[in-house]
Amino acid sequence: MTYSDTVKFDPLSRSFSEDPYSVYKSMREADDPIYYEDHDMWLLSRYQDVAAVATNPNMVRSLEGIESKEDAAERQRRANWHDMPYHERVVQFSLLDSDGDIHRRLRRQVFGEFTTAAVAAHEPIVQRIVDDLLDDLEGRSDVEFIEDFAAHVPGLVIGHILGAPAEHARQMRLWSEQVVRFFDVDRTDEKKQIAETATREFYDFLVDLKAERQKLPQNDLISKMITDEAAGHYSQDEFISTCMLILMAGHGSTIDVLGSGMHTLLKHPDVLKTLRDRPEALPTAIQEMFRYEPPLPFFHRHAMEQTEIRGRDFPKGTTFGLLYGAANRDPAQFDDPDTFRIDRSPNRHVAFGMGAHLCLGNNVARLNMKVIFETLLRRYSDISLAQDKVVYKRGLSVRGPEALNIHWS
Ligand code: HEM
Repeated sequence: MTYSDTVKFDPLSRSFSEDPYSVYKSMREADDPIYYEDHDMWLLSRYQDVAAVATNPNMVRSLEGIESKEDAAERQRRANWHDMPYHERVVQFSLLDSDGDIHRRLRRQVFGEFTTAAVAAHEPIVQRIVDDLLDDLEGRSDVEFIEDFAAHVPGLVIGHILGAPAEHARQMRLWSEQVVRFFDVDRTDEKKQIAETATREFYDFLVDLKAERQKLPQNDLISKMITDEAAGHYSQDEFISTCMLILMAGHGSTIDVLGSGMHTLLKHPDVLKTLRDRPEALPTAIQEMFRYEPPLPFFHRHAMEQTEIRGRDFPKGTTFGLLYGAANRDPAQFDDPDTFRIDRSPNRHVAFGMGAHLCLGNNVARLNMKVIFETLLRRYSDISLAQDKVVYKRGLSVRGPEALNIHWS
């Protein structure tokens, strides 16, 4: 069976957002990786292939230093990533989009703030943020879970870790969305304009915040980064780009997985009941939410060397699309992969990637989920879905419900 015999790949279609998993299944079952012509890349959907590429040091995020200036400019133009000065400086270049020594240096500066122990120390703050948001909803039994609640959490939590005051959380969410939207496969000029403006405003905001902390340091990540910059570990653009990435990478992803995790629980009332009776099952249930509906299902790598995948040679310079969303449902790795099982163990999902770029904020993401679901199950004895059909966002790079109306009491 070849891929073209089975399905047409149109990740922007409504049918794909309704059910990407049957498309992923056809891809995994095809004999070869799928060539995605629109973006000149080979899509990998089997767990083994995705893991092999994500953990291979010869597979890089950036082609800088590998391709000629002309080729780089041409690739930028084809991807519509050109003529956007702020975006090119601090979004297209980042910890996420660097490799080797630069990546190691940038990651090392902030890694200590994101270890399990460092993140666990923020639990009381996360709890307070969640309690305050839910207190504001007191008396309401019908809510739109995403807009009324989930969307506020990440800006407040990551903002607290970094040191961005709570009153800016709403604006940071907007900038993050506008920038992140331009990572998806439909890069229109209109979205480009919006992404560039958002990057510039976000940049100016972070420069001001940094200046404030230089005058009056606090016990937060940005103040620590200022010390590291003085020791020569960052350029100004690297500094801003790292702050921006930390604020953006965990924004939409957290909102989306809260939405899809809640939706999945509501589709499985028996599971919801088990979690009420046995809250100690929550950590494995949360891991399963990440496996089942990973909010960032697609990333890329470029091959620095000729590479063999499934017996086929790919030349140096080949771009691979890593379909984390497809790998997470691979029956060769997970028994009964389309079933949501809260006690799945082991659960080596790739929702946070693998290898050198493994999600820096994965402990933050899990802590948010744990505090939120524990609190919701404690506060509300009855939670149910209040809409017939839940519509998921369109696109390849993100996965999450557009809205989730629920009833709770
Ligand atoms: C909520 C769910 C989240 C998911 C599913 C997620 C997923 C991912 C994935 C898959 C990658 C690897 C990209 C690749 O393979 O190329 C990544 C990288 C990253 N994530 Fe997350 N993320 C989440 C939350 C967060 C949070 C809360 C933060 C910040 C506090 C964060 C910060 C980062 C950073 C800085 C990187 C780049 C790491 C590097 O390149 O070394 N993420 N994330």
